[in-house]
Amino acid sequence: MNVLLGISGGIAAYKTPELVRRLRERGAEVQIVMTSSAEEFVTETALQAVSGRPIRSNLWDKEAEAAMSHIELARWADVLLIAPATAEIMARLASGAASDLLTTICLATRAPIAIAPAMNHVMWANPAVQKNRETLAERGIHILGPDSGSQACGETGEGRMLDPDEIAAIVSGLQVDAGATALLACKTVLITAGPTREPIDPVRFITNRSSGKMGYAIAAAAQQQGAQVVLISGPVAITAPRGVIVHEVQTAQEMYDTTHVHIRNADIFIATAAVADYRPVAVAAHKIKKNEQSMSIELVRTPDILTSVAALESGPFTVGFAAETENLREYALGKLRRKNLDMIVANLVGAGCGFDRDDNAVEVFWQGGEQAFATDSKVELARRIVKLVAERCAIT
Ligand code: PMT
Repeated sequence: MNVLLGISGGIAAYKTPELVRRLRERGAEVQIVMTSSAEEFVTETALQAVSGRPIRSNLWDKEAEAAMSHIELARWADVLLIAPATAEIMARLASGAASDLLTTICLATRAPIAIAPAMNHVMWANPAVQKNRETLAERGIHILGPDSGSQACGETGEGRMLDPDEIAAIVSGLQVDAGATALLACKTVLITAGPTREPIDPVRFITNRSSGKMGYAIAAAAQQQGAQVVLISGPVAITAPRGVIVHEVQTAQEMYDTTHVHIRNADIFIATAAVADYRPVAVAAHKIKKNEQSMSIELVRTPDILTSVAALESGPFTVGFAAETENLREYALGKLRRKNLDMIVANLVGAGCGFDRDDNAVEVFWQGGEQAFATDSKVELARRIVKLVAERCAIT
């Protein structure tokens, strides 16, 4: 894969030599194009050494243009990645500017474009930046991250560039010419999967039998349809497909918090997780001793992640799952209405079905429609469910 890596001028540019190495480890040829401000943060010498190619930065460099013009560079790229992407380059891309080599190539390429924003969290939250993010996403540009955490400015929040390894994994997974066939090209799909664990004391917790297989299969199917997939996973023993961004959580509250960090970038939310409905009111600091013949644990409701996402103003297309042991249709339709969902996937759970198996059978309901899928592997069912979600999402 030929990756044209555009580097714009933010402090996260110091991570780009590592990003180039991660991309090359995955077999990519990397051609770097820097903006003039990127040169303030990382040297051409370092980047040339790791990429093995001369660095391009100037649209008016006659010698370099004669060797490979900006149009040839635009054609050469299988994927165009900008990392870090500053607020400034996002604004220039959104406005369609062709004011330097990088922005000119962006206009001239047919390759998928991905950007990894990186900036101070207040800048990232600024409505102008968010508007540009929306514009770029609507045009089909893949927005990778940003992550949240401590920032170079000393503050904490959303705006850190994704880890180079994560970016390299996503870029490797981008389907070339995805737009031709993929139903979810340019969409970001956020998925919850697996169980949660609600601690009782340092050694015990309340959980359930979810293995994560259904949610991980949905993640793989969404990725196969060209989506950028973010998976928020409870503790499971399976590995996510390469290119899917995984955030591991333990408790319902952590799953809720992580969902709300990433929901703003999501076009579709699919809640496959078996989230604990209750957690202990208090977590004992030390292992509880068995001094009494009986004991009781007071429980309190956990936040309902699915309902909170469905209630968001201009939120994503929201799909819930319903795990029932009886009255599947009636209970699922009740959840569809009460939680104000776009769609619900209902499955029977219990002895010999649903949890921790490789197969499943589901009934899918939405306002004014339904479809049943007979027993099949979770992988195959996930493909059909994702196709249906993509079709319904395109209509509504
Ligand atoms: O993981 P596997 O072993 O492959 O099993 C798959 C599965 C049976 C777990 C899966 O197919 C499934 O049914 N997932 C939903 C399980 C569940 O918790 O269902 P529910 O009917 O209790 O919840 C309804 C919906 O609300 C679900 O989308 C759930 O993710 C969501 N929810 C529930 C509680 C809560 N606090 N927050 C939520 O978001």
